Amino acid sequence: MRGTGRCIETDRHRTTTNIMSNIIELVNITKDYVNDDVVTPVLHGVNLSIPQGQFISIMGPSGSGKSTVMNILGFLDVITTGMYRFNGRDVSKLNDDQLADMRGANIGFVFQTFNLLPRTTVYENVMLPLIYSNVPPSKRHQIVSEKIELVGLGHRINNFSNQLSGGERQRVAIARALIRNPDVILADEPTGNLDSKSGEVVMDMLLDLNKEQGKTVILVTHETYTAEYGQRIVRIKDGTIVSDEMNGHRRTRDDHQPLK
Ligand SMILES: Nc1ncnc2c1ncn2[C@@H]1O[C@H](COP(=O)(O)OP(=O)(O)O)[C@@H](O)[C@H]1O
Ligand SMILES: [Mg+2]
Repeated sequence: MRGTGRCIETDRHRTTTNIMSNIIELVNITKDYVNDDVVTPVLHGVNLSIPQGQFISIMGPSGSGKSTVMNILGFLDVITTGMYRFNGRDVSKLNDDQLADMRGANIGFVFQTFNLLPRTTVYENVMLPLIYSNVPPSKRHQIVSEKIELVGLGHRINNFSNQLSGGERQRVAIARALIRNPDVILADEPTGNLDSKSGEVVMDMLLDLNKEQGKTVILVTHETYTAEYGQRIVRIKDGTIVSDEMNGHRRTRDDHQPLK
C-alpha cells in the first residue's frame, strides 16, 4: 500500500512517484445529481490531493457539497466527470465488488448521526464489518474487544447502543470504523450532534489516530474550532474549493477551551 511508487530518473516516472505519495487524488471532478429529468450540478471542478497520513479538514456552509465530496471519497457515490485515484488506482475502472472490497479494507466512516444499529449491543455493532471480511471467527472476539477498549467503552460492551449517550455512541462508531484497520478515516460532522465536552473527546481520538497510528483523517465540519484539529484546512463554497491552506494553529490536547 505504502511507498509503491518507484524512484526513477525520468520525468514520467517521477510523476508516477508523486501520484503514489498521495493516497487520494481528485482531478477536476464534477458531480451532478440527476433525479427524473432534473439535473442539479453540485461540484464544479474540484481538485484535491491528500498525502497519506495527513489530517485534513474540509469546511463550508450547509449545502456547499461537503458530504457529496465525502461520499465520493468513500466510493459511496460516483463522479460525473474528472478523475478519482485512490492509492494510484483509477476508481472509475473498478466494478462494484472491487469498490466494496477496497472500501472495506481501506476506509472507516464516522457520521454525524452515528449510524449504529439500535437494540443491538456495542459488541455486535463493532463486530458487524468483520462479517464481510476474511478475518476468521476465532480472531474476531479479540479484535472487537481491543477496539472497544481503545475508545474507553470496555464497561459498556454488552449495552445496547440506544442505552448510550451521544458521545459514547460516537466512540462506538469510531471503534467500528477502526475494526478493519483502515488507512483512511472519513468523518462527516462527527461532533455535529454532540455537546462540546463529548465533541472534544471524539476529536482527541481522531487526533491520536492521526498522530500515533498515522491514519489519514478527512474531517468535514462547519466549526472553525473543530477544523483546527487538522494540519490543513480546505474551504468549499457552492461546490468549489475557495481556499486550501496549511494550518499554523493546529489544535493539540493541551490548548482546549475551558469546558463548560
Ligand atoms: N441526492 C441528491 N439529489 C439532488 N441534490 C442533492 C442530492 N444530495 C445532495 N444534493 C444537493 O447537493 C448540494 C450539496 O449537498 P451536500 O453535499 O449534502 O452539502 P453539505 O454536506 O455541504 O451540507 C445541496 O444543494 C443538496 O441539496
Ligand atoms: Mg453534509
